[in-house]
Amino acid sequence: MVILGAGPAGLVLANLLHANGVDCVVLERATRTHVQTRARAGFLAANTVRILERHGLAGGLHRHGRPHGSCEFRTEDGSFRLDYGGLGRGEQHTVYPQQELVSDLLARFLDAGGRIRFETEALAVLGADGQRPSVSVREADGRPRLWRARYVAGCDGRHGATRRSLPPGSVRRHHRDHGVSWLGVLAQAPPSLDAVGYALHRRGFAGHMARSPEVTRYYLQCEPGTAADAWSEERIWHELAVRMRAADHGPLHQGPILRRDVIDLRSDVLEPLRHGALLLAGDAASLISPSAAKGANLAVLEAELLADALIDDLTRGDSRALARYSAQCLTHIWRAQEFSHWMIQLLHDTSGPDDESPFQRRLRRARIESLRTSRTHQDWFAENYVGV
Ligand code: APR
Repeated sequence: MVILGAGPAGLVLANLLHANGVDCVVLERATRTHVQTRARAGFLAANTVRILERHGLAGGLHRHGRPHGSCEFRTEDGSFRLDYGGLGRGEQHTVYPQQELVSDLLARFLDAGGRIRFETEALAVLGADGQRPSVSVREADGRPRLWRARYVAGCDGRHGATRRSLPPGSVRRHHRDHGVSWLGVLAQAPPSLDAVGYALHRRGFAGHMARSPEVTRYYLQCEPGTAADAWSEERIWHELAVRMRAADHGPLHQGPILRRDVIDLRSDVLEPLRHGALLLAGDAASLISPSAAKGANLAVLEAELLADALIDDLTRGDSRALARYSAQCLTHIWRAQEFSHWMIQLLHDTSGPDDESPFQRRLRRARIESLRTSRTHQDWFAENYVGV
C-alpha cells in the first residue's frame, strides 16, 4: 500500500493500517521539519477527537489541547454570544494546532516501525485502473523511482500528484469560487476574547480564533487578488480593531505577525473519490472554505473510513466497505459543504450596488437575528458547527 502525503489524512490512515498489519509506505514531498511546523487549522470537532481516541492517537491533544465551546457575533446591531458547547448535541471543539497533531501522528507512526520517505515527490500515479498501480517519484537525491502497490491512497492535498493523475472524465469535479478572499494572519499575541469572534462590518468580515495562549489567528476579508504583503502591520491592526469594534468591546492584544496568507474561499469536490486502485482522501478529495473549520476534521473522518475499508479488503478479502467508501464520504462532505456555504453567506456581504443588494442585506440581518433569538436555530447551528 502506498500513501501519498503526510498531512492529517495520510498520517491517520498510515497509523491505522500499520497497527492492523497492513504493509504501507508514506511518500512525502516536504522535509520532516516542514511538515511538523506548517501552521494550519486548529479546531478539532468532537467526532475527530473520538476517532483519535479510538486508535490511541489522542495523547498529545488530551495533554495540551483546550476545550472550546463559544463564539461571539459582533454586528452593527450589537453583539451576542453562542455557547454552542451547551447547545445542539452539547459537543465542543478542542483547540490543538494542526502541526502538533501532525507531529504526534508522525512520532507514533515512526515509533511503531512505520515507513515514511520525506523529500520524495510523487510525480504521477500510473495504471490505477489495473490490479498493480504504481507511483513514479523523484527521490530525495533527485533520482527517479517507481513504487508499486495493490492500492494507492491519494492524501497529497490540493496540489498533489493524485489530482493531476486522474484521467479526464474519470471523476466529476464540482467547483465553486465564492468570490470572497481573506487575509489570514497568525499573530504572536494572546487571544483577545475567550470565544471565536465573527465580526460583520460594512468594511468586510473580520474573524478571531485562538490557537494557543500565545498565538492567535485573525482573518480580514479583502479584495480578491490582494497580495499577502499588501497591507502594513499597522493597517492590519487598525482594520481588525475597527471591524471587531474594539471601541465598544475593548482593545485587541497585539503582537508581531508571524505569518500571513491570502485565502480565496473556494469549494471543490471530486466525485467519486475512487478511480480503480487510486483512493482519495482529505484535500485531494475535496476542498472546503475555512469558514467553518471543517477541512482537517473531514480529512480525519475520511482516513478512518478508508482505513477500515482497506483493512477489510487486504486482510479479510472483503471489498464491500471499499465499494461503499466514496458514497459514504461524499454524504459527510456535502453536509459540511452545505453548512460552510451557509456560513459564508452569513459572514459576508457579497452584494454590490444593484437593486437586489439592499434586499440581500436585510435578509442577512434577519438571519443573524434568528440565530440570536431562536433556540431551535441555535441548536441547529451548534450541531452543524461542531459536527462532521
Ligand atoms: N508527493 C508527495 N507528497 C505531496 C505531494 C506530492 N506530489 N504533493 C503534496 N504532498 C504532501 C504535502 O507536502 C502535505 O504534507 O501531501 C501532504 C498533504 O497534506 P495536507 O495539505 O495537510 O492535506 P490533508 O492531509 O488532506 O489535510 C487536509 O488539513 O490543514 C487542514 O484544513 C486543511 O483541509 C485541510 C486539511
